[in-house]
Amino acid sequence: MSELDLVVRNGTVVTAVDTASCDIGIRAGRIVALGEGLSGAAREIDASGKLVLPGGIDSHCHIDQLSGMGIRTADDFHSGTVSAAFGGNTTVIPFAAQHRGQSLRAVVEEYHERATPKAVIDYAFHLIISDPNEQVLNQELPALIRDGYTSFKVFMTYEKMRLDDRQLLDVLGVARREGALMMVHAENDDVISWISAKLLEQGHREPKFHAVSHAQIAESEATHRAIRLSELMDVPLLVVHVSAEGAMNEIRRAQDAGLRVYGETCPQYLFLTKEDLDLPGANGAMFCCSPPPRDVNSQEAMWRGLRNGTFQVFSSDHAPYRFDETGKLAAGPSPNFKEIANGLPGLELRLPLLFSEGVGTGRLTLNQFVALASTNAARLYGLEGRKGSIAVGMDADLAIWDPRRTVTVTADMMHDNTGYTPYEGRTLDGWPETVISRGRVVVQDGRLHAEPGSGEFLPCDPPEPARPLGRLVPEVDPARNFGAELIPDPSQAGTAGD
Ligand code: URP
Ligand code: ZN
Ligand code: ZN
Repeated sequence: MSELDLVVRNGTVVTAVDTASCDIGIRAGRIVALGEGLSGAAREIDASGKLVLPGGIDSHCHIDQLSGMGIRTADDFHSGTVSAAFGGNTTVIPFAAQHRGQSLRAVVEEYHERATPKAVIDYAFHLIISDPNEQVLNQELPALIRDGYTSFKVFMTYEKMRLDDRQLLDVLGVARREGALMMVHAENDDVISWISAKLLEQGHREPKFHAVSHAQIAESEATHRAIRLSELMDVPLLVVHVSAEGAMNEIRRAQDAGLRVYGETCPQYLFLTKEDLDLPGANGAMFCCSPPPRDVNSQEAMWRGLRNGTFQVFSSDHAPYRFDETGKLAAGPSPNFKEIANGLPGLELRLPLLFSEGVGTGRLTLNQFVALASTNAARLYGLEGRKGSIAVGMDADLAIWDPRRTVTVTADMMHDNTGYTPYEGRTLDGWPETVISRGRVVVQDGRLHAEPGSGEFLPCDPPEPARPLGRLVPEVDPARNFGAELIPDPSQAGTAGD
């Protein structure tokens, strides 16, 4: 065998289905060997005592995107992908977002212009469709799907983005004909705007009323409707950023009935509640996202859904707005809850949060963590041949985690441009220390080693209608979770701060 470029030695290698102690040999950006005692590499990384996982795929994030309200997210493709890399990710799938009146093709070209010179890790794009006119439905969308943009998101709420049911059926029809996956932001717009109007009439304008206006029933009703519409058209559907049990139960029922319905939840629904919005002045704006964080029971329901496979995807929904006049306070220092840009940062902490509170507490096995961090997104979004696992022939996208490292989160540790983190002060056990993208060391020793523009665009395959994806989170026997001994016992966690 010719010389290897890199060997990652002595790590505990974990995939969505297996755990083994072995070395990983890398040549020309790909994994070419898995085994013991690999030699002859130009460079070696010793991963003794560490977990070697597939690089994370954050499959729902908004980078350098204009919101429906016309506010640009705080990160460009450099800060966004750097932040993702420091969080253990090697791929992101942000959105190329169409606003009404725009050509979808022109939008995609514009996002490429933004991403190409700046990204430090690989990326694909989902589309956002807010204007499904004849040109989009008959020409642009079919052509883009064939070019590798095989998933698109639609909104059932937000005045300037939402589609009505008839429009949803139109785009589902294209998904059926061309083989694409529809992602849906499922909240009933009329319910939210009716409650909002009543609240404002009564003088309730503080950020905490955002959570009141986005009633759980608005989410579960829209989820039910989206599922029924996709059933009518017999196409797969992914319900994004699920926050509460009602919506989750709709998804589970559909799955139990054999429908190709998938679900996603996000850190904000595991770690935050509506109480976080109840802060003095406008401070609660830092926690306003849609759907909003709910309550402790909802958090437990979301953990259940991750554990039992109702949710296949765990994404950040990174939608960063600074807490200043460029972002959350664009309408002034004391906005009413309808004037606050929706969204939270999360690219960098998605995986450390899930690792610490999922694997570290025994809620998830390591294999489930890998499935949720990476493998399932690769399968769902058509990147399976290259990304999402550790196997010979795959891209050498790896995150080497120290499961014993304890980190207390502060905003100034973060590499994004938001300026705050909703998870300030939390202590997390386990941290991704070294991140390798196509064999290139991107993050090591707390430093970035990748050049802007070194990330590559990834065209995606269509979802395979003939292959039921099923419940993608493996129900693994924890006794087979061989890496478990590397997870510190929470009762004996060290306090070596970072
Ligand atoms: O509040 C959120 N989630 N903002 C980002 C856009 C979206 O709806 O995903
Ligand atoms: Zn959304
Ligand atoms: Zn989003």
